[in-house]
Amino acid sequence: MKIFKLFVLLIFVQFSACQKDSLSPQIIPSKNFEGIVDGKSTSLFTLQNKKGMTVQITNYGARVVALWVPDKDGNFKDVVWGFTSLEEYLKSTDVYCGPIVGRYGNRIANGQFSLNDSIYQLTINNNENHLHGGTNGFYKKVWDAKSFKIDGNDALELTYFSKDGEEGYPGNLNISVTYIVTQENELNIHYAAKTDATTIINPTSHCYFNLTGSTENSILEHVLQINAKYFTPTNETLIPTGEIKDITGTPFDFLKPTSIGQRIDQENQQLLFGKGYDHNFVIDKSIGSFKKMAEIYSPKSGIAMSILSDQPGLQFYSGNFMKGILIGKRGDKHNYRSGFALETQNFPDAPNHANFPSAILNPNETYIHKTTYRFHIAK
Ligand code: GAL
Repeated sequence: MKIFKLFVLLIFVQFSACQKDSLSPQIIPSKNFEGIVDGKSTSLFTLQNKKGMTVQITNYGARVVALWVPDKDGNFKDVVWGFTSLEEYLKSTDVYCGPIVGRYGNRIANGQFSLNDSIYQLTINNNENHLHGGTNGFYKKVWDAKSFKIDGNDALELTYFSKDGEEGYPGNLNISVTYIVTQENELNIHYAAKTDATTIINPTSHCYFNLTGSTENSILEHVLQINAKYFTPTNETLIPTGEIKDITGTPFDFLKPTSIGQRIDQENQQLLFGKGYDHNFVIDKSIGSFKKMAEIYSPKSGIAMSILSDQPGLQFYSGNFMKGILIGKRGDKHNYRSGFALETQNFPDAPNHANFPSAILNPNETYIHKTTYRFHIAK
């Protein structure tokens, strides 16, 4: 009997080991995401390139569920947090796991802003502030989905119609988000939106990455470089004060590649307010130009990710609110500081700061936002 138990245990250990470190991507079946939310059908879509890079996306929240890229030994690793079924997302307390957040990603002070002499009140869902589009933001909506090929690459277009007044925002807004997986191991995200009345907009992708391939590993050893000479300090509720502060001599200087953990526990008021890094970096480039913003790699897996975008800011969040209670893919716990987000965006609370780039979208304009997450092996 004992020998039998030992045998079963051995098989189990071997099985879990190969689950964590597999040669090829483990595809989540689309049936796990088939369901109805708010009367609309949900599903899971799989985008792949010829090298095997695989991205799985559900139209519930326009959410990245899995992202497989090769590590330095050629083994595929899933580098984003997530769950394996729609049910798990619906009951999860971490609603910001992989989706598109908006209409306005990040915070708006007291959920208020004014436009053309009218004051608008948005829903309040984070202390006294509005966060990531409110209680029922884009991340909880079922988007319409269309798979297609563009230049030989797998693509998925997701569209959503956000009604005038939704979460307090003015204007009927049509938004599309297109995910494309290129042959260069890139995930491109293209956003476009139109409104019928002046509004504000700042959608962004909210993936939590861990380039080791397991959310049980800390992200503190990841080495990060950000092309930013300035950042926007915040108050204790993480609303920018309006200052554009020089990073020189602060733990916010990531001009040279530095591990996330090196200075995260330094005595610094901004790090205290954020409980770690939770700040917007002012990328060193002209408004609207598409440039490299940052690069990050895991010395453990060798996987590196470059981030390119046309947005003015990059929110770096070091997973300070994670508690290790939720259990995600492959049975991995979503541990404290085991996922980071690097969100390409306008500055938080921009509608309330005249010195920040404008977040206003007028009826005669089209909102455009392009971001690339490019994966490669660190040199
Ligand atoms: C980030 C934000 C953090 C936190 C997180 C979600 O984008 O900067 O403060 O709210 O989302 O838990």
